[in-house]
Amino acid sequence: MTKRVAILISGSGSNMVALAQSMTGDHPARPVLVISNDPQAGGLAKARALHIPTFAIDHKPFGKDRAAFEGALHQALVTAKVDIICLAGFMRILTADFVSKWEGCMLNIHPSLLPKYKGLETHARALAAGDKIHGCTVHEATAALDDGPILGQARIDIRPDDTAETLAARLLPLEHQLYPAVLRRFAAEDKTPVLLGH
Ligand code: GRF
Repeated sequence: MTKRVAILISGSGSNMVALAQSMTGDHPARPVLVISNDPQAGGLAKARALHIPTFAIDHKPFGKDRAAFEGALHQALVTAKVDIICLAGFMRILTADFVSKWEGCMLNIHPSLLPKYKGLETHARALAAGDKIHGCTVHEATAALDDGPILGQARIDIRPDDTAETLAARLLPLEHQLYPAVLRRFAAEDKTPVLLGH
């Protein structure tokens, strides 16, 4: 049966667009909902242009009440009968309680070669460490931040003149290839890792 996918974003949503556009034809999944915790996120308009239902749940009025924010998020996902959640630049940390409800059904993309550089500033940290290779990872989301079984990685060489900005810009198109490739396999219940680059 076709899997119903929700994509969670906070920003420009370029990974969301790549995922949504990949789910056509014989693809085993379809996008049914795009959610943002930021009502101003540029990705929401892009989702509407793709005719995908959108929902904004502003986290700010919830203050420190993460459980209430996540309750609203969970309800929206249940109402849309979602089978798979793709976190795509979703900048809220999810509690173990929320993750436990969706574990095994939730993917995340992270701009580093995990297990290196969990958290923020991944490009600057790879440069500061003198790494020669950088990349991105799609993994199953678990309660631990940027952790969980790895489902795919894409690698790029770091050039001597790279900055955090040039690295991010060169990596993003690979993210747009990797995430849809992993989602297609995952939706077909195949967890064989996808490896792109060298
Ligand atoms: C991507 O680099 C992703 O890896 C990171 O946040 C960025 C999101 O970009 N977690 P976009 O919103 O998909 O354009």
